[in-house]
Amino acid sequence: MNIETQEYINGLRPGPLSSEIPECMRNKYTLVQAIFELIVTLLTALGHLFYEIYKSIFRDPKKDLKGQIALITGGGGGLGSLIALRLARLGCVVVLWDINKQGLEDTVKLVKGVGGKCFGYVVDLAARDDIYRVAKQVKKEVGTVSLLINNAGVVSGQYLLETPDHLIQRTFDVNILAHFWTVKAFIPDMIDSNHGHIVTIASMAGHVGVPKLVDYCASKSAACGFDEALKVELDSKGIKGVRTSLICPYFIRATGMFEEVQSRIVPQLNSNDVADRVVYAIRTNENVAVIPSYLRVLLPLKWLVPWACVSEFIRGLVPDAMPAPMPMPERKVKADSLKPNGKLESRPMTLIPPARDDRRV
Ligand SMILES: NC(=O)c1ccc[n+]([C@@H]2O[C@H](COP(=O)([O-])OP(=O)(O)OC[C@H]3O[C@@H](n4cnc5c(N)ncnc54)[C@H](O)[C@@H]3O)[C@@H](O)[C@H]2O)c1
Repeated sequence: MNIETQEYINGLRPGPLSSEIPECMRNKYTLVQAIFELIVTLLTALGHLFYEIYKSIFRDPKKDLKGQIALITGGGGGLGSLIALRLARLGCVVVLWDINKQGLEDTVKLVKGVGGKCFGYVVDLAARDDIYRVAKQVKKEVGTVSLLINNAGVVSGQYLLETPDHLIQRTFDVNILAHFWTVKAFIPDMIDSNHGHIVTIASMAGHVGVPKLVDYCASKSAACGFDEALKVELDSKGIKGVRTSLICPYFIRATGMFEEVQSRIVPQLNSNDVADRVVYAIRTNENVAVIPSYLRVLLPLKWLVPWACVSEFIRGLVPDAMPAPMPMPERKVKADSLKPNGKLESRPMTLIPPARDDRRV
């Protein structure tokens, strides 16, 4: 490196821009320039704010999804299968990815039962090579995916020190790293055609920390960051036709993940309502959907009140996120845990296919 470059790096030699400004004006100019840039940025942001208010009053017609190929990860059960049914009814060709073969087959049957076109693929979302391999297969066998819903998720549900390393690894593999691989596999086609939508199913747990969910909260927080950064990256590249939506639900009843959560004050959500809300967010190109929406108001408070209040509130809201011991691969179905119709009352996350009784077809 020559001396001039070295001096430039050390701030001893003016750079290309500051060299054009007289020495006595340099600091002032930088300040004036910063204020000017701040005003321009604020005015532009204000313009967007008015535009969004206008749009929320005079809503755009909902997006027509007919004929689009929608891929839902974790579509073999829970929320994923409920979203699949709704998208099929709207005329989407539905592609489901799941590690649970039986759940996948059941959901494909259900979707076909409502007259939908549906394809199921067994994929382990914790395996990057598997994702890339099956993505190629889907493109060849079904076509170009224009709606990608990263929905699959897992939870370890134990105190951090009791969580085996491989479960922490799995949480990150499925809940966030898989999003990188699926998006890398499918977004190039969306960018080429300037048409597509990436949906990230995160959680309120991506915004607030909960005991026993350290790995889960961290992975969901990463999913929130993933969506936000991707959104801004697409904006910065001027790609207007590829949209992203972040979905942050509170605890949901009857999907299989947080079946036994102890939650107070805020009631657990109905899985059908959440599925409806996800489809609404897709059809209206909503950037962020917090479910229920009133929780959105509480989020900024986290940064305004003393930490003790936040901690007290979270612990009051969720006394125990995972009372049942986890993991429970061989959990026996007790006679008293069966409903009169013989279906499971509650299940551990992802290990037993979710009951079908929460599904409104
Ligand atoms: N249930 C809730 O209370 C709740 C609340 C907020 C957010 N969420 C999020 O919503 C999404 C859906 O959750 P759900 O309640 O339907 O859970 P679920 O356990 O019922 O369904 C998750 C699906 O992902 C699949 N899956 C898990 N690991 C996989 C892997 N390695 N490869 C492929 N598929 C895999 C499972 O087989 C299952 O079908 C998740 O991302 C979850 O974190 C759930």
